[in-house]
Amino acid sequence: MMRAAVIDTCGKPPAVAEHPQPAAGPGEVRVRVTAASITPLDLLCATGTSYFGTPATPYIPGVQGVGELEDGTPVWFATSAGMRPGNGSMAEWAVAADGDVVPLPEGVDHRLVAALGLSAVAALMALTWRGDLRAGERVLVLGGGGVVGQAAIQLATLHNASRVIAECRSDAAQRRAERAGASAVVRLDRPGFDERLAEHGPIDLVIDPVFGAPAVSALHVLRPGGRLVNLGSSADETAPIDSATLRGKHLSVLGYTNTELTKEQRADALAVIAEHVRGGRLTLDYETVDFADIGDAWSRQAAGTADRRLVVVL
Ligand SMILES: NC(=O)c1ccc[n+]([C@@H]2O[C@H](COP(=O)([O-])OP(=O)(O)OC[C@H]3O[C@@H](n4cnc5c(N)ncnc54)[C@H](OP(=O)(O)O)[C@@H]3O)[C@@H](O)[C@H]2O)c1
Repeated sequence: MMRAAVIDTCGKPPAVAEHPQPAAGPGEVRVRVTAASITPLDLLCATGTSYFGTPATPYIPGVQGVGELEDGTPVWFATSAGMRPGNGSMAEWAVAADGDVVPLPEGVDHRLVAALGLSAVAALMALTWRGDLRAGERVLVLGGGGVVGQAAIQLATLHNASRVIAECRSDAAQRRAERAGASAVVRLDRPGFDERLAEHGPIDLVIDPVFGAPAVSALHVLRPGGRLVNLGSSADETAPIDSATLRGKHLSVLGYTNTELTKEQRADALAVIAEHVRGGRLTLDYETVDFADIGDAWSRQAAGTADRRLVVVL
């Protein structure tokens, strides 16, 4: 038996319970889990209202985690928990398909890799693959205090952006964006946002995990031919974009999702992130939570009162 976080009813937080240890089937490996973050995707799936449908219960959540294979190799791994039948990372032991396991460098900080995980993959690939960031370009990161935002600020700097401007809406988010190295922060929660943002234009590339009104403002400060890559909708599902702005400046509005990556692309991106973590070039403001307290942590992350990404440690 092992300790596992089990969701019995969709819409309710998981509770720690004794659960049989999983066995690896063909093409799978067992991972002794050390850390797993509670992500927006985990929360969404567990509501039972996501586009993946209502998960069969009981199930163990956790679409990603970090741990060790039985021979001690440190790994990051992904699961389909909440999206397809099967269990996830929030247990002492998990099972993952061979193709969903990425070896990590020896000595890398498991908790930090778990905290960054697929949010950092999305930031990296939205910048470099979808956004085609070139050295010397000016980047605007919306939601600069979030996990995607903090990763995008640091990764844009590492890819030689000339300036990285961040949009934030609180003192705490501003501090996080500044610690991540933002050249300037423009506050959404203060009057005159559009005018203050315009002082930092023209922008070549916008990384947008929020959409809604901030994305519309960002389009107005793009240079002719500039790009906006949208990867989330934390602010709003829709945005009133006007045709004149789009066509007048020949702008590109691009969508990005990690699910379009091949497993090789995802593994390569995680390897880049893990190397930056090991080298001290990539970090994040996150909070660790004892596994025994996962129910409370889950509720705080779901209610938006956590303030930072929560990482469950085992
Ligand atoms: N496409 C993909 O593959 C992919 C991958 C990872 C994440 N995502 C998505 O990207 C989004 C951000 O993810 P994350 O990991 O960075 O989450 P997070 O750490 O919870 O950050 C959420 C961000 O959204 C901002 N925000 C929330 N409500 C807002 C509002 N009403 N107006 C303006 N800004 C608002 C927050 O600003 P404050 O910090 O100022 O509160 C914060 O910067 C989520 O929608 C997530 O699902 C997509």
